[in-house]
Amino acid sequence: MYNKINDMLARRQPGYSLEQGFYTDPDVFQADLEMIHYREWLFAIPACELEKPGSYVTHQIGAYGVILVRGSDNQIRAFHNSCRHRGSVLCKSKKGNNPKLVCPYHQWTYELDGSLLWARDMGADFDPKQHGLKPVHCRELAGLVYICLADQAPDFDAFADLAGPYLEPHDLANAKVAHESSIIENGNWKLVWENNRECYHCGGNHPALCRSFPDDPSVTGVEEGGETPAHLQAHFDRCQVAGLPSQFHISTDGQFRLARMPLKEGAKSYTMDGKPAVSRWLGRVPFEDAGTLLKFHYPTTWNHFLPDHSLVFRVTPVSPTKTEVTTKWLVHKDAVEGRDYDLKRLTEVWEATNDEDRRVVEDNQMGINSPAYGPGPYSALQESGVIQFSNWYCETMARALAPETLAAE
Ligand code: FES
Ligand SMILES: [Fe+2]
Repeated sequence: MYNKINDMLARRQPGYSLEQGFYTDPDVFQADLEMIHYREWLFAIPACELEKPGSYVTHQIGAYGVILVRGSDNQIRAFHNSCRHRGSVLCKSKKGNNPKLVCPYHQWTYELDGSLLWARDMGADFDPKQHGLKPVHCRELAGLVYICLADQAPDFDAFADLAGPYLEPHDLANAKVAHESSIIENGNWKLVWENNRECYHCGGNHPALCRSFPDDPSVTGVEEGGETPAHLQAHFDRCQVAGLPSQFHISTDGQFRLARMPLKEGAKSYTMDGKPAVSRWLGRVPFEDAGTLLKFHYPTTWNHFLPDHSLVFRVTPVSPTKTEVTTKWLVHKDAVEGRDYDLKRLTEVWEATNDEDRRVVEDNQMGINSPAYGPGPYSALQESGVIQFSNWYCETMARALAPETLAAE
């Protein structure tokens, strides 16, 4: 299976969309999980979602079920959602609050830090210390929780060191989730990303978003080694003087990018009239027209941080042609619905945009499923972000496959 994918990578034409199998083949999907999603750092949740000790959420990534739980020491930890007795799933709900984690099968009872507290009639030789929940790597960065399923997690610090100062003014520690939506898109997870990384489609598909979001390719794309246009540099400088790290930055390996981009002239937030959606702001951005701090971190998340509220998106592959996209609207924890914000006004632009994106991704997948499909050329001007994603994917995959294919020879 790995050799097949290596051959596909070898015959890939850079600057073109990928061949059909990358978007449809169950073997490629399995390799995507094993080589990328089971190895890289993945965005899981905003930390504020776990409001108090005992709050937990569960999250499924391929075959892995994960529990994220806030301990009595307030620290967030992640564990495999599988009991150390005979393996039953431990937490069955999507979210909840429990003083302890109790297995539904034989009631083995775990502390919030994963240690086994109680197991009935296991005999004198049984050592509870050897039967704590298996941990999953977990890091909290400025109010965002990332996990990694690998035994040895790759470096997280380079990302944390860079992104921390950009995120700090948005004060996500004092946020609450005002609204959450989870949709299933009938498309491969890479098509979800390809669509996200360009705004070539925006004018024709996103009437609500286009009221505030510029479809200027220098905002959505990347300028690798290129010049920053003067109007963007002026925006970065103005924000930076006000204490907001803003300069465009993409990591050397292409996995993550940060930049605070201006919205359309006159627009302050993602609303139909462009005015802020929330009067009690989340964070310390000192002016309304700071635009949106754009962050992506492959393979699971893109985010928008605005002066009044923030949006976090999470991409989870479900099958070769199904992807879950979860969106959370974050506002200040003291903002009151009906007084400081109207929920419809806050959410309508991205609810519509997500649904429009779902439709174009599904149409894209349907056309790719045809035997007549073949890779087509990306626009270097409009789709440099897609080229960047596709290069990152192919390079990451080739790197991860190299030792596996050597071993198979
Ligand atoms: S499987 Fe969990 S207590 Fe038996
Ligand atoms: Fe879109």
